[in-house]
Amino acid sequence: MKILFVCLGNICRSPLAQAIAQKYNQDHEFDSAGISGYHRGSPPCKGSQWVAREHNIPIMHITSRPVRYPKDDHFDLILALDTQNYQDLLAMGFEAHKVRKLGEFGFDGLDVPDPYYYTGMEGFERVYSMIETCVLNLIKEINDSSLGH
Ligand code: 4NP
Repeated sequence: MKILFVCLGNICRSPLAQAIAQKYNQDHEFDSAGISGYHRGSPPCKGSQWVAREHNIPIMHITSRPVRYPKDDHFDLILALDTQNYQDLLAMGFEAHKVRKLGEFGFDGLDVPDPYYYTGMEGFERVYSMIETCVLNLIKEINDSSLGH
């Protein structure tokens, strides 16, 4: 399956989701993008670089890019990090059946909070832990079940 993670800037949350998924699974294709193109070409934010390094997750191969419809419509599953991202994806034209919230995979659909405005690293550790739980559940569901079929 081809899976795209989408947050607002594609520098904090969705690169972490992509990097964690790629570390734990090589059978599927993972990518990430941002609703906004504001950070296009930028590496992950310092906090995400730090927390990824703490957990030994390679992340520096990822550079920010905006999500585009219909260019990104070849992904089988598009996972929004929060409700605003989810609504923006639907408004862009992506079909509802392939857009989900990452928080559905372990947090009852809860938004993954945006750590961009946090000071200090505690927020990044919390966001990392939430994303890791969801990504591991996602991979398990893809492998065990009929997700995407
Ligand atoms: P992200 O965090 O969506 O997790 O990448 C953000 C990064 C930058 C901005 C917003 C959120 N920004 O407005 O510049």
